[in-house]
Amino acid sequence: MSTAVAHPDQVVLVVDFGAQYAQLIARRVRECNVYSEIIHHDLSAAKIAEKKPAALILSGGPMSVHVEGAPRLDPEIFNLGIPILGICYGAQLIAHQLGGTVGRNERGEYGRTTMSKLADGGSLFAELPEEFTVWMSHFDAVTDVPDGFVAVGTSPNSPVAALECPERAMYGVQHHPEVKHSEHGQEVLRRFLLDLAGCEPTWTMASVIDESVAAIRDQVGPEGRAICGLSGGVDSAVAAALVHKAIGDRLTCVYVNTGLMRAGESDQVVDSFERSQGVRLVHVDAADRFFKHLDGVTEPEAKRKVIGSQFIRVFEQAQLEVEDAHFLVQGTLYPDVIESGSDTAAKIKSHHNVGGLPDDLEFDLVEPLRNLFKDEVRAVGAELGLPEEIVWRQPFPGPGLGVRIIGEVTPQTVSILQNADAIVREEIIGAGLEREVWQYFAVLADIRSVGVMGDERTYARPIIIRAVTSDDAMTADWARLPYELLEKMSNRIINEVDGVNRVAYDITSKPPGTIEWE
Ligand code: XMP
Repeated sequence: MSTAVAHPDQVVLVVDFGAQYAQLIARRVRECNVYSEIIHHDLSAAKIAEKKPAALILSGGPMSVHVEGAPRLDPEIFNLGIPILGICYGAQLIAHQLGGTVGRNERGEYGRTTMSKLADGGSLFAELPEEFTVWMSHFDAVTDVPDGFVAVGTSPNSPVAALECPERAMYGVQHHPEVKHSEHGQEVLRRFLLDLAGCEPTWTMASVIDESVAAIRDQVGPEGRAICGLSGGVDSAVAAALVHKAIGDRLTCVYVNTGLMRAGESDQVVDSFERSQGVRLVHVDAADRFFKHLDGVTEPEAKRKVIGSQFIRVFEQAQLEVEDAHFLVQGTLYPDVIESGSDTAAKIKSHHNVGGLPDDLEFDLVEPLRNLFKDEVRAVGAELGLPEEIVWRQPFPGPGLGVRIIGEVTPQTVSILQNADAIVREEIIGAGLEREVWQYFAVLADIRSVGVMGDERTYARPIIIRAVTSDDAMTADWARLPYELLEKMSNRIINEVDGVNRVAYDITSKPPGTIEWE
């Protein structure tokens, strides 16, 4: 299997020292229109030199530089002449590895802190106010700068909260400029990238589309044919649209109605792709088959397996209708790809393979979104002219409503959930919150409770509303929906959906919960 993705000429490498910081930094770099990739910290200087990065950004991380086994950079990297910005742990590492001192503080700094400029802010902070509020999260702090460096900022518990050596194009900040709570954070990154490291702000969605189209044409060749499974989510939709732009009619999309889709979804997919976009579409209605195989299955993993394996069967059959397709399009995103630090194959979270298709399907993979974050995928979709309902469609799991029905999945339980889910969606959209909330849906629990409606005692199942905010689905928080909105959803669900007599709101963040219930 092979995959071709467009790699822009200019790349900034974000060196990952752990925790969640690297992804956010990489996104902020891209917001400066500079392409970035994340690499593991144990990459050697030689490997980094091969990638010819325009700059390096060292991320924060959870360790102290003084702890045995704490991650280090290959010291030769500092001699490559590549501009470097260290953030938090990254800044401490610059100080520690180049001969400065990192002290163990009596007190750390967590949350909002005041950064005060020293030496007029040097080149990094030159254009910023004398003092500004930054977001800190550290215990250790730099106390002495290495030879040739100057301190350009300080904060109450960090004698050296920012340092630089412009002659060697090395800079370090103790705070987290990538976090929105840091004032002027994006300006600090832009200053480093564009003014000090000389990067060109050429990475735009239009350039992504041009480069991807060229890479797809290159991979598929002038005659090659491709198929793409549309899952109902935004990723496969945008991947399909990109490939369609590149190879037109030589792409056929396959849409399998598993019976586990949201209400109205199958029609919408057919409408948007076949009728509006003119994409060739094989539409397979396999609902009965899925229900038959799900009969009596309640254990979550078993359910996922049944749905996954039936999907493969149906997909294989549909694929026979598409002659000579050697390429399979998948909507794998950058967060699903964990670069291992060596140049070995990237790992993909298994559940993110569309429909969980196995390796032994004899296809070459086309993964045009492999370098993109979710918000960038939406921007590409909008740039390609896809309708808003698709571009802003919320993520939807491959196994569909199957993982939102606790207990047995039957046409009846699916119908209850579809009706409740449609109300949740309508009301969130009606309140204009669909872009603020990452995912919003209903879950059907496998319990019954007593209620009273009119004069009748009821004994029925509850619907749980789940709505979360998130940037990337790796972490999430429950959305603080207005009470009036929750009230309206609750009233409508109980009045309009047979079989439901109670509504609850899930107030669990991720971690410890997951976004889905199964
Ligand atoms: P969890 O529940 O793990 O979900 O917090 C994280 C994100 O992944 C989606 N999800 C899936 N997507 N196949 C998919 O393509 C799956 O099996 C699957 N399970 C969860 C989920 O909706 C959320 O956006």
